[in-house]
Amino acid sequence: MKIKKAEFVISNTDVRKCPKPDMPEYAFVGRSNVGKSSLINMLLERKKLAKTSQSPGKTLLINHFLINKEWYLVDLPGYGYAKISKSKREEIANIINKYVNNRSNLYCLFVLIDVRHSPQKIDLEFMEWLGQNKVPFTIIFTKADKLKNTKLEDNIENYKTSLLKSWEEIPDFFVSSSTKKSGREEILEYIEKLNK
Ligand code: GTP
Ligand code: MG
Repeated sequence: MKIKKAEFVISNTDVRKCPKPDMPEYAFVGRSNVGKSSLINMLLERKKLAKTSQSPGKTLLINHFLINKEWYLVDLPGYGYAKISKSKREEIANIINKYVNNRSNLYCLFVLIDVRHSPQKIDLEFMEWLGQNKVPFTIIFTKADKLKNTKLEDNIENYKTSLLKSWEEIPDFFVSSSTKKSGREEILEYIEKLNK
């Protein structure tokens, strides 16, 4: 799919203030610093459309981008950042939960996982919670450029094994690197198919 136009629409903390749910929507969620905003910029080939940062907790709002005037891409705040107050963490969890449960036009939720690490409790619990709420999701492993191929494959296999302990099937998944631009075509093709 060709990205002809990518425009910022609105940021807010309240799902009720999001754009009218009249077009397909795809949201990126995951732990703080996992690379959600970077991945959005990479997919859209716009360097600074979504705000990124080396320190976690950069995105604190629900950010809507309108793509080709046909579908929305959404950058969500990251969960699980330890260095902020408990009340702020709960506030962010609440924004994510309400968004995920109330956005009627959400075609697919992409859950981003940092491929460098072994499966983390916080991500596994988040996916469990999605399951309980009947929210389908697709996984994107991020920062693939940071690992050698064999380690990359090992980590993905390890992740699959871990998922199979609580899921009957492995969800669809992609492997990406925002610095190397890998995974771009596959993810955009996946979105294009779902749009139809
Ligand atoms: P929050 O908004 O704080 O939740 O973070 P985020 O998930 O949006 O992460 P962001 O895109 O801001 O990236 C966090 C850091 O990881 C930045 O320093 C990025 O440059 C780096 N980063 C993101 N994706 C990649 C990647 O694919 N490869 C490498 N090497 N670094 C990445
Ligand atoms: Mg971000």
